[in-house]
Amino acid sequence: MVGLGPRRQPSRKGSMADVPHDLKQEIQRLEELFTVDTAKLKAITDHFISELQKGLSKEGGSIPMNPTWCMGFPTGHETGTFLALDMGGTNLRVCEITLPEEKGEFDIIQSKYRMPEELKSGTAEELWGYIADCLQQFIEYHHEEEKLDKIPLGFTFSYPASQDYIDHGVLQRWTKGFDIDGVEGHDVVPPFEKALEERGVPIKLTALINDTTGTLIASSYTDSEMKIGCIFGTGCNAAYMETCGNIPKLEHMKLDPNQEIAINCEWGAFDNEHKILPRTPYDIIIDKDSPRPGQQAFEKMIAGLYLGELFRLVLVDLHESKNVKFFEGQDISALQKPYSIDASVLSDIENDPYENLQETADNFKKIFNITPTKPELELIRRLTELIGTRSARLSACGVGAICKKKGYKTAHVGADGSVFNKYPHFKARGAQALKEILDWETGRDGKALGKGHDPVEIMPAEDGSGVGAALIAALTLKRVQEGKLMGIRDPESMLKNFGGQK
Ligand code: BGC
Repeated sequence: MVGLGPRRQPSRKGSMADVPHDLKQEIQRLEELFTVDTAKLKAITDHFISELQKGLSKEGGSIPMNPTWCMGFPTGHETGTFLALDMGGTNLRVCEITLPEEKGEFDIIQSKYRMPEELKSGTAEELWGYIADCLQQFIEYHHEEEKLDKIPLGFTFSYPASQDYIDHGVLQRWTKGFDIDGVEGHDVVPPFEKALEERGVPIKLTALINDTTGTLIASSYTDSEMKIGCIFGTGCNAAYMETCGNIPKLEHMKLDPNQEIAINCEWGAFDNEHKILPRTPYDIIIDKDSPRPGQQAFEKMIAGLYLGELFRLVLVDLHESKNVKFFEGQDISALQKPYSIDASVLSDIENDPYENLQETADNFKKIFNITPTKPELELIRRLTELIGTRSARLSACGVGAICKKKGYKTAHVGADGSVFNKYPHFKARGAQALKEILDWETGRDGKALGKGHDPVEIMPAEDGSGVGAALIAALTLKRVQEGKLMGIRDPESMLKNFGGQK
């Protein structure tokens, strides 16, 4: 490339030299607002631990800590053919997964369907009808002319749902911008099954799961060190395995205290009462203008859905501020539309390889019809670093809290989601924060002393909403066949349909 200036060096020290005083002051203000230092990380983690505990107590707390009735890890010897449905924010994914005899193996075929934006604020009937239509299409396409018995389905429904049984789930509240009337407070399974029946789709829901539980189980299928499943994507959350003896709110069920059960933390709701998180005025606006104010306080500071909006709110605020000249004389109307900036825009800015931030300048022109000055580009870039770093560091508090609560000195943490997979430096920033939280002594390589790797490693997960959902469906059927019916609502019909499936 010609005329773009030298490629950016890893450190941008000195690049602020030409930034005018008023902008420099704003950068400093933003740094103060968005930086979470070690002491704060530790304080947040400690509060997190007590909130995890509270969620498991009889009284309950902000973090739902939902028992999922997924009782223990797979052995690697699960077998059978299953469907998996993943109702994500952007896409609907349907998979058919075969677990063969070979340990830890799987075969998968899958199709994606677009999740129309209107559906997110439409009616419940439209939602279930659309999903059932997609499943019907999938089966017709992949099993043309076949006469099928019912196929067991693992449905990944990645919203907070309380479960008395694995094949049922009452939606506690919509998250991630969904706002469909008449679903919250109800079991989502009956209307879903009704839509399938109306269309004659040969499917039997066997397990309703969360994406984090799926991630935990899928990753543990191939890695026995796996202790926590996390999603850092449009939303954020984690699941881990707890022993029933540590769950006072299940005491009345008189379960074996050593029996393991996966807990879907729903940690996006951490600190809904605003006791500890360092919220900025921009976070407060995001919450106030969201469909569910007062909910998902933690998620709204770190998840992919909100990173672009945070960035946008700061830029608009700077433009309107009397203290600083920012995008002076420019038409910022393209920046005025809420939620118009995807987190990938921030990723691209952090990834801009040029010292003069040419790619960022080009993108601003193209997307917003704004021509930033060089110092404005510096602020823009610093802002993305601050937002991305805060997201990674706060995320680490949740992981650190589960590890401390469970006493894990070493662990693998399986993570998935667009922010984890695509946002630059998210992994390294998260690892650095974990190191500060868990006080590892490090060697010259920055890794835990003498090990060459971190004791708690957050690593890319296996496909939770595909393979994980299938595995949980398989584990459920196995329990039915063994007569272990705790937490299963409809074992008779599972036995009738799949009694012989091994
Ligand atoms: C949902 C969780 C989900 C997470 C990641 C949150 O908004 O409440 O159930 O696990 O997003 O998808």
